[in-house]
Amino acid sequence: MIPKPPVVPRAELHCHMEGAAPPSLVIQLAERYGVALDGLLDANGNYSWHDFTTFLKTYDVASALFRSPEDFTLLAETYFGMLAAEGAIYGEVFISPDHAVQSGLTYKAYMDAIGEGIMRANEATGIEGRMISTGVRHYGVKAVEMAALTTVNNPHPLLTGFGLAGDEREGHPSNYQKAFKIAQEAGLGLTAHAGEFGGPESVKGVLDFLHVTRIGHGVRSVEDPALVQRIVEEGVTLEVCPGSNIALGVYSNLRFHPVNILRQAGVKITLSSDDPPFFRTTLGHEYAETSRVFGWDRAIQKELTANAIKAAFCDDDTKARLFQQLEEATRDTN
Ligand code: ADE
Ligand code: ZN
Repeated sequence: MIPKPPVVPRAELHCHMEGAAPPSLVIQLAERYGVALDGLLDANGNYSWHDFTTFLKTYDVASALFRSPEDFTLLAETYFGMLAAEGAIYGEVFISPDHAVQSGLTYKAYMDAIGEGIMRANEATGIEGRMISTGVRHYGVKAVEMAALTTVNNPHPLLTGFGLAGDEREGHPSNYQKAFKIAQEAGLGLTAHAGEFGGPESVKGVLDFLHVTRIGHGVRSVEDPALVQRIVEEGVTLEVCPGSNIALGVYSNLRFHPVNILRQAGVKITLSSDDPPFFRTTLGHEYAETSRVFGWDRAIQKELTANAIKAAFCDDDTKARLFQQLEEATRDTN
């Protein structure tokens, strides 16, 4: 039998730290802290929510069960270890000063703890990880500005970006200009969720006012051909999370998801898992399923990972090493 080549190395740019918490870990923490789970999980042990609003609420409740630095170190180490086991060589994770406070920690203690988990996973598997601090849009403009200030006042070598998460149906992008300017002046890479529940106007707003180089989701840009053209011309990268979009009902089936149309139009596409256990997905599942449904071969999978490395918020030396790893593992595709 001809041995199968190893999987094409993968990279993830869009995963929320607390959203990566396996239910088993949440159950363990609830027991440790004597907290009732109160419908957080369904009878099958999966997170229980039914739309975007209840998903965001469930996310906050699960997040608040992480209380000590050790809890966050374990979460980060577990997530990055799982990512590496699926063939990933790089991952960026969204962290949130607001969720640190809800857990009873200072932002610094929370970030240091997650950084420690990333370093442990790096030592064990070689995976490179970085953190992106985020403001939560539906917590309001002042909260997002405070998140930006807290972020730039507490630097960390693995914290290399700032982003906007939360409900994009609330607050015009122009309201968050000040927060993004603070982050930009500190040299952080910029990304914002848009074009997930909002249409093309929402995407145009973050491009016009927040000067992001990447967009979280961005898939509803497909509804406006001129916007797709703009995204191609400006070289903006989309952090596409197909499983998340299907779980949240943005599209009914992967076959009807616009990721392939966007790619064919010349948009720089990357794949991510967003909040993997909430959406019953993983990065490996995203690569495998899109490849199966759209007939993407190893060369296209390599292109997705190369797009992620190019758009990553890490230094050029790290990017060069990642590109080398990608090349070495995909000689068969050249
Ligand atoms: N926070 C966690 N997951 C999110 C998502 N999919 N969209 C917006 N904010 C989020
Ligand atoms: Zn997200």
